[in-house]
Amino acid sequence: MRVHVADHPLITHKLTVLRDVQTPSVTFRELVSELMTLLAYEATRDVRVESVGITTPVAPTTGVRIADPKPLIVPILRAGLGMLDGMVKLLPSAEVGFLGMARNEETLQPTTYAERLPDDLSGRQCFVLDPMLATGGSLAAAIKFLLDRGATDVTAICILAAPEGLAAVEAATEGLDVKIVLGAVDERLNENGYIVPGLGDAGDRLYGTV
Ligand code: PRP
Ligand code: URA
Repeated sequence: MRVHVADHPLITHKLTVLRDVQTPSVTFRELVSELMTLLAYEATRDVRVESVGITTPVAPTTGVRIADPKPLIVPILRAGLGMLDGMVKLLPSAEVGFLGMARNEETLQPTTYAERLPDDLSGRQCFVLDPMLATGGSLAAAIKFLLDRGATDVTAICILAAPEGLAAVEAATEGLDVKIVLGAVDERLNENGYIVPGLGDAGDRLYGTV
């Protein structure tokens, strides 16, 4: 597993406002989207491209375009949905599949309640979006889901991670080429499985408590 923490003052600044309990939902949503776009820049560094010939107003030349098959973006519902527009802004030709997962707040085990993904993911570059990597159970299950469908190239993009969750995902993906791009690695998990200092419940802060 390769982990990249996007250490940039703009990211740290936006993260600070995002963490603040006083930040209202409307600002929280905007910041998640903006942070996603900044993280997407790092996460797509190895996106597959192919060469293409074009003609400028001055001369013919060659450039590159995103290769086929197009990348697949997989937001994990609910909270990952808040990252989707920030990602497609940068990668508009990508396709989007969905995984719905909810963590049982007592056992901290994830369950998958929805799935809309291609049956065959071989040869697809997959980008999984989830703002929070806490125990790592949800992300490990999501990555396993994609690998079981034949994916071999998976990048996860998270805004915050706990060291315990990173270790759990590492153990679950041992020997596999999985990349994780993060805004920050926080101190630890608390006794309720929340990231400390974290930002609270990302889904609730985006969409309210349901
Ligand atoms: C949150 C978060 C992750 C998961 C992280 O989602 O968005 O998916 O918890 O926790 P883990 O690393 O311990 O598995 P949640 O299950 O609360 O669902 P929601 O997005 O609908 O709020
Ligand atoms: N899910 C969240 O939304 N926040 C946490 O801190 C942990 C899991």
